[in-house]
Amino acid sequence: MSNKNVDLLVGAQWGDEGKGKVVDILGSEVDVFVRYQGGANAGHTVVADGQKVVFHLLPSGMLYPGKLCVLGNGLVIDPEQFLNETGELFSKGQDKARLAVSPHAHVVMPYHKMLDKLQEESRGKGRKIGTTGRGIGPCYVDKYSRSGLRIEDLINPDVLRERLTYILEEKNQIFTKLYGQKPLPFDEVFEPARKWGEAIAPYVDDTRALLRRAVDEGKHVLLEGAQAALLDIDHGTYPYVTSSSTSASGAFTGTGLAPNDLTRVISVVKAYTTRVGEGPFPTEDFTEAGETLRKNGGEFGATTGRPRRCGWLDVPALKYATELNGANVIALTKLDVLTGMGDIKVCTSYDRNGEKVTSWPTDTRVLSEFKPVYETLPGWDEDITECKNFDDLPENAKSYVRYIEEVLHTPVGLIGVGPDRNQTINRGI
Ligand code: GDP
Ligand code: IMO
Ligand code: MG
Repeated sequence: MSNKNVDLLVGAQWGDEGKGKVVDILGSEVDVFVRYQGGANAGHTVVADGQKVVFHLLPSGMLYPGKLCVLGNGLVIDPEQFLNETGELFSKGQDKARLAVSPHAHVVMPYHKMLDKLQEESRGKGRKIGTTGRGIGPCYVDKYSRSGLRIEDLINPDVLRERLTYILEEKNQIFTKLYGQKPLPFDEVFEPARKWGEAIAPYVDDTRALLRRAVDEGKHVLLEGAQAALLDIDHGTYPYVTSSSTSASGAFTGTGLAPNDLTRVISVVKAYTTRVGEGPFPTEDFTEAGETLRKNGGEFGATTGRPRRCGWLDVPALKYATELNGANVIALTKLDVLTGMGDIKVCTSYDRNGEKVTSWPTDTRVLSEFKPVYETLPGWDEDITECKNFDDLPENAKSYVRYIEEVLHTPVGLIGVGPDRNQTINRGI
């Protein structure tokens, strides 16, 4: 019998499902917390005893003293953000020894963030992706075109100088010739980067080997996905996606662990749907109901503060995400936000010019022509934010949970009934 104990937690919609909260809830049983893709585009909120913390780069388990937190090789790390986030936490007396950063993670440089903004501006109206402006796309472009800087380059001043010399030459051609900007002087980029390298060096470790050992010793490892299946670079609503593999498979390239290390996939599903940024969203609700979901759910971006687009549950989209992630169990969040909404709409298929479509399309550009076909489920008015057990929920709330289990053929192991750690119904996840 394998003694492996590795959970992978991934989002099932367009992000902001409440992954941070679920990681935090599982946290007391976890030994090692890992982020493995994306970067500071993520905003994972943890509310513990009324105190709210938003993690962008660091794993959401950082509030648990003494546990190991890992930033895997698949991440793109903005050193300034890293130092701000660690600085803030450690000033509150956290133990420094427990954070390990992969030497193979890529560095988000200031020119990546500049390029992210310039590209968005030049795409113009109707073509913008609505990125978070955190330099994610340009940094992954450099990674794959082999013009990137890795953490191991950042912490070695000689290598940094050598690589940055020609990388910056290339970038300056783009800034000056394509965007009519001034070139970036070498020292203005090199000097701060060298200092970031010095500050990050103490955390750098062979995270693949650390994780390998932890898994083989039977430690409980929790791999925390950022973004979500429908934002996946391959499987999402391209081009309105992020630049990394956000569905389950990204966890292996992003850590160096192997697929058979995994014991379970936890899929985080919000009880309705939100999206921030551009791109198709068939169940988006432009009426009063959408406004109410935004208001009651506090649906404003944890990273950019942008209002999130809101709408109803989309079953074909969720079936697709559930397959893609190989979900074993669902963590259903924000059920409380549906309280008092009246009838609850659930999209079960789409109407495409009179034709019924029941599955998620391969060409997601056609989604804008899809009209959602809704089934209506009865709602509830009772406050559920104090419910501790499934049986405490109103009958209609229970039916909604059972409905989700049935259509997705996956058990709901945890239900969120409020933002706080203790506003959770744990059904033995
Ligand atoms: P993440 O990116 O998936 O970690 O999600 P975000 O943190 O960006 O957004 C989720 C928001 O919903 C945060 O403000 C959480 O505090 C909040 N939240 C999480 N779970 C629940 C829940 O069950 N009910 C309510 N009302 N809020 C929740
Ligand atoms: P968490 O982990 C929601 C969206 C952006 C934009 C697209 C590309 O908190 O769920 P990027 O800056 O990544 O190039 O932007 O992806 N996006 C997110 N939306 N939650 C996130 O992270 C997101 N990270 C990126 O809004 O549409
Ligand atoms: Mg978020």
